[in-house]
Amino acid sequence: MTISADSSTHALPPLEHPLEDGWTLPATWYSNASVAERERELIFSRSWQYAGPAEHVSEPGSFASTQIGHIPIVITRARDGVLRAFVNVCRHRAYVIAREHGCRETLQCPYHAWTYNLDGSLKKVPRSEREKDFDPDNFSLLPASVDTWGPFLFVNPDPDAAPLQETLGELPSIVAGSGLDFEQLEFHSHGEWPIEANWKVALENYLECYHCPAAHPGFSKVINVDPDAYALSVSPTFSSQIGPVRAAALNGTNGAPYVPTGEIANSQYHYLWPATTINIVPGPQNISIERWIPDGTGKTVEVTDYWFGRDVPREIVDEVLAFDKQVGQEDVDLVVTVQAGLDSGTVPQGRIMRESEQLIADFQRRVYDAIA
Ligand code: FES
Ligand SMILES: [Fe+2]
Repeated sequence: MTISADSSTHALPPLEHPLEDGWTLPATWYSNASVAERERELIFSRSWQYAGPAEHVSEPGSFASTQIGHIPIVITRARDGVLRAFVNVCRHRAYVIAREHGCRETLQCPYHAWTYNLDGSLKKVPRSEREKDFDPDNFSLLPASVDTWGPFLFVNPDPDAAPLQETLGELPSIVAGSGLDFEQLEFHSHGEWPIEANWKVALENYLECYHCPAAHPGFSKVINVDPDAYALSVSPTFSSQIGPVRAAALNGTNGAPYVPTGEIANSQYHYLWPATTINIVPGPQNISIERWIPDGTGKTVEVTDYWFGRDVPREIVDEVLAFDKQVGQEDVDLVVTVQAGLDSGTVPQGRIMRESEQLIADFQRRVYDAIA
């Protein structure tokens, strides 16, 4: 498979060796502006992604701002109780309108005070009476698609998107099978981590635990990361890693940094195309969900929200978060170094392990199919 440079303004660097033979995407695809532009248009503008906690818009008269890929989004619940999402960009001169989340009856753009109703219609425009042909009905906020899964909001910038359920597929039942009970959960906290690496580098690292024995010694004492125990699976719209707990970690006999006692027996790490990941740590009721936001070609912001069972003691919550933070920092160090290696241009295409890194192969195939 070779893509030749086409005559469009978005020519892609060629792929010399086929993905099917175990080759990676070309190193240049992790810094090339044309690749990033195609990803924006063909991936991030038209797919479902995690957008924030549903409780932020549970009340009529509430809104929550977020960002999906490169697109600012505002989610609202007007007095009619309907959940809606819009592009959070003013129809006047493109100022980003809403910040954070809260309760109010209208959204007012801070730049020149155009005011929108929570149903997206334009309510008030200063000095519009002086414009003979100005019709506010032509300047409603641009709609996007929104839906929920349990405590999670999801947004697709495409207003005509297929239902979220088609993207989630069997994922909700797999998550329910972990022992997790959404009813017991309480929102805990939000975190954002800027990472100096392309979004694909960050997600490819998420998608394999081949690096765990060498790079996460603490994690590997808690979770059995041996290839015959650590289960990998690829579904049409998501992929999963399910890892059992090591008995010696439960007994406290192997020096594991975290003792995973509780209702949840296995770790679950799910990747939902294109940039949402869902993590369940063994032990108490807990889940975290994140979206990965590309920031130019060489940077990514990882945005994570955490939920814990409302009865989980604070010291246990702190232990889970410390465990997560340690693994997360180890991962950031890895991906930043990979980006430097890719940017050196010395290894034009790498060679993956097609069994242990099958989730990366699937991811790269999806990226290729989406943009090539
Ligand atoms: S850009 Fe929003 S009111 Fe001018
Ligand atoms: Fe890792």
